[in-house]
Amino acid sequence: MVREAVAFPVYAWLTRYNAGSVASVLSVLEAEVPRGLVEARLLPRGGSPVGPALVLLSFTTRGAASAAAEVARWRQGIPGPVWVVAGGCHASACPEETLRAGFDWVVVGEAGVALAGLCRAVAEGRPPPRGVVKEGPPPPLDTYPPWPTSGLVFSPVEITRGCPMACTFCQTPRLLGRVPRHRSLPALERVFRHAVATGHRYTRFVAPNALGYGADHPRNPLPHAVEGLLAMARTCGFGSVFLGTFPSEVRPESVTPELLNLVRDHCDNRTLAMGLQSGSEEVLRRLQRGHTVAEGVAAVARAAQAGFRPLVDFIFGLPGETEEDQSRTRDVVRHVVNAHGARVHAHVFEPLPGTPLAHAAPAPLSRRTVDLLGELTGEGKAQGSVGTPALTPCPSPWYREASVRDG
Ligand SMILES: C[S@@+](CC[C@H](N)C(=O)[O-])C[C@H]1O[C@@H](n2cnc3c(N)ncnc32)[C@H](O)[C@@H]1O
Ligand code: SF4
Repeated sequence: MVREAVAFPVYAWLTRYNAGSVASVLSVLEAEVPRGLVEARLLPRGGSPVGPALVLLSFTTRGAASAAAEVARWRQGIPGPVWVVAGGCHASACPEETLRAGFDWVVVGEAGVALAGLCRAVAEGRPPPRGVVKEGPPPPLDTYPPWPTSGLVFSPVEITRGCPMACTFCQTPRLLGRVPRHRSLPALERVFRHAVATGHRYTRFVAPNALGYGADHPRNPLPHAVEGLLAMARTCGFGSVFLGTFPSEVRPESVTPELLNLVRDHCDNRTLAMGLQSGSEEVLRRLQRGHTVAEGVAAVARAAQAGFRPLVDFIFGLPGETEEDQSRTRDVVRHVVNAHGARVHAHVFEPLPGTPLAHAAPAPLSRRTVDLLGELTGEGKAQGSVGTPALTPCPSPWYREASVRDG
C-alpha cells in the first residue's frame, strides 16, 4: 500500500499589523514551494503551533518584543519540534539581535526564493544550521501576486514597492530599495478579477505614494497610469475603490488638481492622507524630506478644495527639534485644521533600525505641543500617539550597506 505524503505545516503568525506581509509571504511560498510539500496555516497572535512545524513571523520594530515573547512561550510549552523564522523590516535591519532573541533563522530582505528554499529544506527534513539567510536582489513586483490564490489570507493590493525618496526616519527605501517597482496593469487585472471572483467587493491599495503609481518620482506623477489603475479596478467589478487613504498615503508634490479629480471621480474615499511631518523648513531639510512646508500646506489646500478631508501626518519629537521648530509645527497644524478642515495624524518620533536616525535621540515634546495635541484630539481633529515607545536601535551591517547605497 502506498502511503500518501503528509504536507508539512508552515504557520504564518498573524497580528493586527502584519496581514499584508503574511499575504505576500504566503504568495511567494505558493509560487516557489512544490505543491503538496507544505501546508500553509495561519497562527493568530496568542495561539500555539502544533509541532513538528515551521513558523514564519514578520514584524516591525514595535512588534519585535511580542514576537520574541511568543517564540519563548512556544519553546517552553509545545511538544514536537517547532522551528521559527523571523523576517520583515526589523529583522532585516537587526538580524543578529533577532537571532539572539530566540529565532532559528532570520531572513534579510524581501521574502523570495531564499525563504522558500528554507521552508522546503525544513519540510524535507534537512534544516540548515541556524543563522541569517539573505535574499537576493528584489524581483519585479509582478513576480508574485499580492496574496496566495488559495484565499487563506487577503489584503490591500500592493501597487508599488520601493521609494525614490530617502527620508531619514523611514525604513521603506532602506528595506525595499529606492527604485519604485510598480505592479503592471495586466498583472493587476488578473489580481482584481481573482479578488472579485472570490467574493471581494472593494479594494484598497498599498504604496509609499499612491498618486505616484507608474512614476519614477513623486514630482513626475503619471495621471494616465493612475487613471488606468482605477478604471481597471472598476471594470473588473469592485463596488468600492479606495486610493490615497491608509495604507496608500500620498506625497504632497503628487497632489495635483488633475489627480485629485481622478480620485474623486473613481474612488469612494473622501479623505486623503498625506505626510507633512514638520512645520519647520530646517527640520524638513534635515530629514531629506524633499518638499517644503509651503508645498505641503498648498497640497492640503488643494485636497480640501477638491472636496477631500485632508488627513495629515506629522512627527513630533524629531531629533534636534527645538521649541522654535515645534512652535512652527504647531502653527502649521492649527492652520491646516482651521483653514482646511484637516485632521492631524500625530506620530511621536521612533528611532527605527536600518535608518540614518536609528541612533538619534527623540527631542522632548514641549508642554504647549502636548496641550495642543490633547486639545485637538478631544475635538476629534487629531488622532495618534504621543507616548514614546522604548526602542533599542542596533548597529547592523545591513544598515551600513544601506547607508552607503543612500550616498
Ligand atoms: C507609512 S508612512 C508613509 C508615509 C508616506 N510615504 C509619506 O511620505 O508621507 C506613514 C507615516 O508614518 C510616520 N512615520 C514613519 N516613520 C516614522 C518614525 N520613524 N517615527 C515616527 N513616525 C514615523 C510618518 O508620519 C509617515 O507619514
Ligand atoms: S516617508 Fe514616504 S516618501 Fe519618505 S522615504 Fe518613507 S515612504 Fe518614501
